[in-house]
Order: sequence, then structure tokens, then C-alpha cells
Amino acid sequence: MSNFGELQSLANSITAVTSPFRNYLNDLYEKYRSLNEGAVADYIPELALAKPEWFGVCVVTTEGQVFEVGDCDQLFTIQSISKAFVFGLALEDHGRDYVNSKVSVEPTGEAFNSIVLDEVTNRPYNPMVNAGAIATADLIKGKNGTERLKRMLEMFKRYTGRDHDINVPVFLSEKATGYRNRAMAYLMLNFGMVSEKIDETLDLYFQQCSIMVNARDLAMLSATLANGGVNPVTKQRAIDERYVQDVISVMLTCGMYDASGEWCYRVGLPAKSGVGGGITAIAPGKVGIGTFSPPLDVKGNSVRGIKVCEDLSQDFGLHLFNVAKPERNLQEWIAGGDGINDW
Ligand code: DON
Repeated sequence: MSNFGELQSLANSITAVTSPFRNYLNDLYEKYRSLNEGAVADYIPELALAKPEWFGVCVVTTEGQVFEVGDCDQLFTIQSISKAFVFGLALEDHGRDYVNSKVSVEPTGEAFNSIVLDEVTNRPYNPMVNAGAIATADLIKGKNGTERLKRMLEMFKRYTGRDHDINVPVFLSEKATGYRNRAMAYLMLNFGMVSEKIDETLDLYFQQCSIMVNARDLAMLSATLANGGVNPVTKQRAIDERYVQDVISVMLTCGMYDASGEWCYRVGLPAKSGVGGGITAIAPGKVGIGTFSPPLDVKGNSVRGIKVCEDLSQDFGLHLFNVAKPERNLQEWIAGGDGINDW
């Protein structure tokens, strides 16, 4: 890193310590810490081990400041959040037209694991539901499963700035119990939507769901997209800038499963959730938000995570379609009025 880079990151971290936004985030954490609604996912025993009280919130700005509160070091499996980023890798591997010939970008309005394909084209509806995610994983290039997984892990590292491991017990359980996903894969093979390497691709899909992340990683993932595909801290490009809008737009329309419409209405931020309890949300050009809290609502989205994102969006006018003057100006709250930030 250059001297200038070091000085800038020092300035940023000082801002992160003194900024009023830090107090705001602490208050937000306290506000929802005792919210005891929802249920931890238990379709495999490993996920049921998650503690319902785990709660972390991290916000990373496109200038690389990191604000966090709570359990931001606690690792958990990324689950469906991986789908958005693997979609980006498939786009880089094949381009928009080919990917779109195998996976549509239409919201389903149905549960994430529904066994449904477009009746006319036989494509899965979008890359965020399981069928579409399996078809997307099928597109990831590599000479074998090991190389394809390695490419995925390298991609996540570009976004988060650190190495990621697979939670092997979660992977093995997903693999052992994933009959429904297997059925979807064979249905899609029947229609020529996926290649014949079904077992390898399903393993890859189960492995991508089992990648270990924390709330800070989730904020880095979304901050990188918010920053045009470049990690705002490491300055490394994670995804070709041509495909950033593809990923973000599908997150907006399909990222929160059959709650995507209500999420868009109430929060208005492109986002993706996972049954591990994570949510990653993007305020383009401004911040990435990562939340972690395992109890889920009936649609599979983290209850505390939804509340935190709703408040952040409302309080700082982050909703994509907000045209009213926000109650609080995010730039000022983060900078503490010292003018360091200039979006
Ligand atoms: O494919 C599965 O069943 C899970 N690994 C899906 C993960 C997920 O997060 C779905 N949604 N909430």
C-alpha cells in the first residue's frame, strides 16, 4: 500500500471511531437486540446449533470506512447469499446472453426451493432461487469440481479481502439431505438447462452455500458492489464492472425470495439473504450493509436483519426511490461534519 493509501486508511479509521454514526449503530443494535422473534433454520442439525442471540451489524462505506457492532467476527454459512455473487462469476465466464439463455431474471413470488420452471422456455426463473442457483453453479468454469470451487473461493476473497473456508459438516449434510435440489437439477437436465455433470455441480452448489463468512464479510461484499465492483478497502476489483448492475438488479427484484416485493417497498435496497441468518444490502455509491442474526421469519429472512435494514434505509433516506430529504444525512453522520467524506 502507498503512503497515501496508508494515511487515507488511518484517516478513515479515525473517522470510523469518532463518527456519530457509530453511536447510531450502537443504538440500533440495542434497539433490536432483545427482539426475540423468528426461528433458527433447522433443516439440517448443524444450522440448528446457531445461537438465537447472535447479532452483528456492519456498515462499510464506498470510501472504505468500517463501522460495526455486535457479533461481527462470528462465522456462519453464507447459504443463499452466495447465489448473487456466483451469478456475477457466471456472467464473467459466459456473458449476459448465454447466462440468460439458461437462467431467467424473473421473480417467482414463490418459496426459494419451489420446483418450478418457466413453462415456455423451461428456464429456472432467476439465479436467486435454488433451481436458478444450481443452473448458475453449472456455468462456473473449471476443469473439475476442485478447480471450480477454487475459482469461487478466489472470487469471494476478491470481494471480502480474506480467505474463506467451507464448513464441511454443513456441506456434507446439505449433500446428504438435498433431495429436492437433486430433483430440480434432474428436471433441468431433462430440459437441457444444465450439463450432465450433475453430481459435480450439486456438490459445488452445496459447497458454495457452506462457505463461512461473518457480518463484516457481508458488508464488504455489498460495499464492493456499491463501489462499482472494487473492494473499497483493498482496492481490488472483484467483478467486471459491466456485470455489477446485472447482479444488483436481480438482487433488488429477487434477493429476498417471496418477500422481495415487500422488501423493495419498505427498504428499497438491493439485498440478498441466507438461511444462515445473514443479509447483505447495497446502497449503490454509498454503503454496503451486512447483518447477522440467525432467527428467520416464515419466508427465510433474518428478523433482526430486516429491522436493521429498514431503520437504516428510513433514517438516512437510503431507499433507492427516495426523493424526500432524509431525516439524517448519512454523509454528515459518518464524517462527523469534518468533510473527510465527499460522495
Ligand atoms: O439449497 C438449500 O436448501 C440451502 N442451502 C439454501 C440456502 C438458503 O439460504 C435458502 N434460503 N433462504
